[in-house]
Amino acid sequence: MKLTSEEQEMLEGKYGKAAKKSMEILTTLGEIFHSDYMVDVYGVQIAGVSYANLGEAGLEFLSEMADDGKVRVLTTLNPAGMDRENWKVLGIDEEFAKNQNRAIDAFAKMGIITTCSCTPYLIGNAPHFGQHIAWAESSAVCYANSVIGARTNREGGPSALASALTGKTPNYGYHLDQNRHGEVLINITTQVKGTDEFGVLGKIIGDKLGELGKKIPYITGIDSATMEELKSFCASVATYGGVALFHMEGITPEYNNYPKPTEISFDIDRKDLEKTRSELIDEDIEIDFVSIGCPHASIHEIAKIASLLDGKKVNKEFWITTARPTKKIADEAGYSKIIEDAGAKFAADTCCVVAPIKGRFKGIMVDSAKACYYGRAKNQFKVKIGTIEECIEEATL
Ligand code: F3S
Repeated sequence: MKLTSEEQEMLEGKYGKAAKKSMEILTTLGEIFHSDYMVDVYGVQIAGVSYANLGEAGLEFLSEMADDGKVRVLTTLNPAGMDRENWKVLGIDEEFAKNQNRAIDAFAKMGIITTCSCTPYLIGNAPHFGQHIAWAESSAVCYANSVIGARTNREGGPSALASALTGKTPNYGYHLDQNRHGEVLINITTQVKGTDEFGVLGKIIGDKLGELGKKIPYITGIDSATMEELKSFCASVATYGGVALFHMEGITPEYNNYPKPTEISFDIDRKDLEKTRSELIDEDIEIDFVSIGCPHASIHEIAKIASLLDGKKVNKEFWITTARPTKKIADEAGYSKIIEDAGAKFAADTCCVVAPIKGRFKGIMVDSAKACYYGRAKNQFKVKIGTIEECIEEATL
């Protein structure tokens, strides 16, 4: 790779041990993917933050990097294993909390903003069209590439940290125009509405692309989509199909930049949506846990939850997972009080997938197809998908 003199000096250790290690990671990646040079990144988002994923080996790596490493660009974290303030109320064990805090402290020492969220674009880590970034969370990567038109590969924990400590990433994959054109044309012939239904649509497309061995769908037939619907779609299509970029005619900013694919195409109709929705509802489910906010809830979603819960009481464990800055806006707006008076709980910094709650509940109801996937695969819950309204109805039965 061709390095600038500053990058070369980082590699030689003139900027310290952490910058050297980081540049070694990035140049190795660059060589594997035949990148010619590095690009500057506007911001970074780091995943693998939960102590359950990191373990002692991960913590050791972080502590080493934190010895003399300091971030050069705005960097935030993906959800951790617990709400850093509310962990006791959410039933998190004390030993886990201690270890999770050790990890967050190591990130903080490097100058990383310790807001733990999978929606960095809602809390100020928000690139604009065409900017290079290095993000790790799959749903956020898909949102950044597709909805914002920023450019990022899906980074692993160490490579994202390396980008944070150097401000660089190797120029390959989704950073390059030639890798951003649609491969499969998908025409939606029915109206799609709600975060749950956009999640179902993401599963259909993700599953189908998996079968075809393709990664970039070009979607037509969607008249409108809210930010919340798109974030749900991104989480789902990334989970079921490993999709990091899609184009949606009339909705996403790059749909007109590349020719429509012509070789492979298929339609999705109402029957397909209903069939796939039924796959996300387990038989004989006994729901004892309801969670909204996968990906992390926006202030719009929290306002809606507050209006639906106003004056009611929940009879099941009910989490609203969100970024702490969003929770603070909800506090100021009075939404948190309405929600907490109803007996629901905020779980900021974390979510129903990364928190260590495996086996703690029998059945979970969510409005997210991604949460269904991990609820089954990781936490061994039975799952049911529904609209936000249906989730709240279930919680208040
Ligand atoms: Fe975010 Fe957790 Fe869902 S990280 S996308 S809320 S699984």
